[in-house]
Amino acid sequence: MTPELIKTTQANGVLEICFARPDKRNAITNDMYRLIAEALERAATEPAIRCVLFTHEGEFYCAGNDLMDFAAGAANPNPSEPPQVDRMLTALLNCPKPVVAAVGGNAIGVGATMLLHCDLVYMADDAKLTMPFLNLALVPEAGSSVLLTAQLGHRRAFEVFALGSALSSNEAQTSGLVTALMPKEEVSDKARAACRALCQKPPAALLLLKQLMRDVSATSEVMKREAVHFKAQLKSPEAAEAFQAFMERRPADFTKFNPSV
Ligand code: COA
Repeated sequence: MTPELIKTTQANGVLEICFARPDKRNAITNDMYRLIAEALERAATEPAIRCVLFTHEGEFYCAGNDLMDFAAGAANPNPSEPPQVDRMLTALLNCPKPVVAAVGGNAIGVGATMLLHCDLVYMADDAKLTMPFLNLALVPEAGSSVLLTAQLGHRRAFEVFALGSALSSNEAQTSGLVTALMPKEEVSDKARAACRALCQKPPAALLLLKQLMRDVSATSEVMKREAVHFKAQLKSPEAAEAFQAFMERRPADFTKFNPSV
């Protein structure tokens, strides 16, 4: 039987979405994006759901997009199912209910940029965030080119994106990316307690609060702009070299490519 790579459970007003692919460090495949999107779309419309919680199995929170999927998608112009990542990111951006994340381990790529759309993020004090899009010859997504830069300032955000420099848990918290840090064993309990507390709040006011605090249409425009370049880069020779290097477990060699002007 195919294992369930995204597990969803709903109880007492909380829809829990769990990354359940620990052997691949919870890297997200196209199927998984679809399942997350479906869950978020349901959360948006179902009155019984008052908040969403992201959790994970295993030591790693999420290693980002599945790189084999990236490589296969770049090689196949007519996939049986269109890429679901945009659908998932749109559902996350537009989710009117509070979204909480229990980050008990490292987050990479989209695993980290998704956190920019969460309302509460509880993180293990030894976890790190990395967004090494450029190492894969890609550009930032999920609005992170603007959202992360607003949070960290251009100089540090550029280093995070361009050099793949990791954000420690402390830096993530002091820069406002994370709500609170704690030992990893306490993260999911703390996040669940926060969800229970949110479920006791006046629901209409809570939704209004979230709506007032975020500029969804501006971020949506950023995401559209990013997606154009992301999709083009995905098919680039530079990216093919990056995916091949990952599969061969060697550093990528970009010195053979010339910058186009
Ligand atoms: N896509 C597909 N498979 C991935 C993956 C990803 N993003 N991240 C990890 N995996 C797989 C590995 O291929 C390996 O599979 P295998 O056991 O069949 O060989 C398994 O997960 C374990 O990975 P491994 O590298 O052996 O574990 P690690 O703990 O030493 O390192 C990472 C974990 C996440 C640091 C490392 O795998 C990595 O750098 N992954 C790529 C992350 C990335 O660039 N994501 C995209 C960002 S935009």
